[in-house]
Amino acid sequence: MKQRGAILWLTGLSGAGKTTIAQNVAQELQKRNYPTELLDGDIVRTHLSQGLGFSKQDRDINMRRIGFVANLLSRNGIIVIAAVISPYRQVREELKQTTTNFIEIYVRASLAVCESRDVKGLYAKARTGEIKNFTGISDPYEEPTNPEIICQTDQFTVEECVSQILHYLETQGF
Ligand code: ADX
Repeated sequence: MKQRGAILWLTGLSGAGKTTIAQNVAQELQKRNYPTELLDGDIVRTHLSQGLGFSKQDRDINMRRIGFVANLLSRNGIIVIAAVISPYRQVREELKQTTTNFIEIYVRASLAVCESRDVKGLYAKARTGEIKNFTGISDPYEEPTNPEIICQTDQFTVEECVSQILHYLETQGF
């Protein structure tokens, strides 16, 4: 039987841990010989979405582009892991309705924790106003209302969050 594809859509604040979890899930799936592709917001913005900014309109275009590519792959049996802030609920819901096996994963940590991690130093710049429209500080993040999975990264380790996702996939028959 052909492998079922899926879109693991990791949404959450900058610094919540989306990329780390995505990379680790990809590694685990590859070890098990599942065809896997990773679409990371930071990387996608260097080519597919080059030139887009962070207005609502541009973020929505970015999400729809990533959703479009993810769907092409997913419907051909690939497990796609997308790690994108994707702050707007409406487009996430739209993708859930229009793509194959969309699994919404809320990578959740409080703003205070994300800000204290400040891995890329962007929160500090957002606070001084050097970076405008920064998600969580000067731009909205609309939390998922009904995600398939919530990874609470300020309470659980990366390994625990990865296991949680793999377990979900197993129980869903992937
Ligand atoms: S999204 O909002 O369009 O879904 P995406 O995941 O592609 O965002 O890109 C977010 C990354 O862009 C962040 O991890 C951060 O490194 C960088 N970035 C630069 N400016 C901003 C900003 N104003 N808001 C959020 N992220 C920003």
